[in-house]
Amino acid sequence: MSQPSAKATAFDHWIRTAFVAMNTQLEELYFAQPQRACVEGVGDPIKARLRDEGRMHVVALLAEGNTGDGFDSAFGVLGNVGMYLGALRRHELTNPAREERSPFAEASSLALHVGASLGMAPRFATSHLATRNRAVAGLRKSFTSLKDEYLFIDENTRGILALERAAEALTQIVHLGVSNPVADVCFATAVQALHEVIEFNRRLFEQLDVERFFYCVRPYYKPYRVGRTEYRGANAGDFSGINELDLLLGLCRASDAYYAQLLVDKMMFMLPLDQQRLRDCMTRVSLLDELLQLAPAHAASDWFQRSARAYLEVADLFGRSAVQHHDQLVARFIEQPALALEGRELAGVTASGPPLPVLLRSLEVLRDMRIAADRADIATRHRDLQRLRSLLKG
Ligand code: HEM
Repeated sequence: MSQPSAKATAFDHWIRTAFVAMNTQLEELYFAQPQRACVEGVGDPIKARLRDEGRMHVVALLAEGNTGDGFDSAFGVLGNVGMYLGALRRHELTNPAREERSPFAEASSLALHVGASLGMAPRFATSHLATRNRAVAGLRKSFTSLKDEYLFIDENTRGILALERAAEALTQIVHLGVSNPVADVCFATAVQALHEVIEFNRRLFEQLDVERFFYCVRPYYKPYRVGRTEYRGANAGDFSGINELDLLLGLCRASDAYYAQLLVDKMMFMLPLDQQRLRDCMTRVSLLDELLQLAPAHAASDWFQRSARAYLEVADLFGRSAVQHHDQLVARFIEQPALALEGRELAGVTASGPPLPVLLRSLEVLRDMRIAADRADIATRHRDLQRLRSLLKG
């Protein structure tokens, strides 16, 4: 692994220390007010220090033209300049709704330069705070030192790692063939990993403080402009594993215009390695389709029965995790607290930008595809799963 430059290291150190301290101070000020969503005019000297100290690092890195130190270093710089811009957005020092271009020209240039060189969107991505959030003596990157932010980052990351493990196991079955007796160990790995996802979601649901998450954590994930363009916020879904599971289980199809659009839109928010995995996965036949093709001639055979049963177990667990995400996490931590907000404040709630009811409907569609719900208005695999279930003996 190549070493980051001294300037990149200094910026990283600032992001992990002074930046976190200033954001935390600001959060405590906002949170102590009767109107917690009110940010403008609060803590202005701290905001100015955050803006100016960060700018010094950005200007130094821009002058250095630091994109030649290898992937890890450039990826680190992109995450840091992105977190800096994300915090400026959170503290209302920029707001895409009232500007045509980012007022932070140097930070935009640096982010655009590094993002383009990596093949990623020029903003911080989920991977910066999750699976590529390298801890230095236990200290991982975050915006604040609030315990609820660490809880959110850590459980998200555990969930992502487990979903990636399940996706990797199903990919192995693609290569082995679903009729291969060896597929049993891959299905078992996927089952185990999805049980873990359900457990991490449960812990998050029970332990995360609704108000702290809604008012002090989530606002750092809002959309912001880089140069002229507005980029949507990061969300825990920006990794390929979740879509590999959708596609390999056959619950969502890359030929479905709605779903394909979603894949296209998220491509640049993922690590290049994930982009590659997702493209590869889009060319595969799903396990569901493979089983249904084999069914007429082989449904009675032992291997078919074993694989179909294991497939259905994995699909059911995956569906359960999707229901948890929508009916528990999104409902409790976004939908319900948003009821207390109105107008302008509500406009900034979602990470992707669309109004909340629109976002909720699109998340509901994903949930229903993943549970193969019986819906006439969207293409789900309800009938195909029913057919597979009907073929099981006993
Ligand atoms: C407090 C916990 C969580 C909340 C409130 C939450 C909320 C949301 C919201 C609102 C979105 C839509 C993105 C947007 O705002 O534009 C989203 C997307 C997504 N989240 Fe979460 N999320 C949480 C935790 C997790 C965890 C632990 C995972 C799994 C590791 C996860 C996986 C996803 C995925 C995959 C998407 C993309 C849409 C999809 O494919 O379903 N989320 N989440």
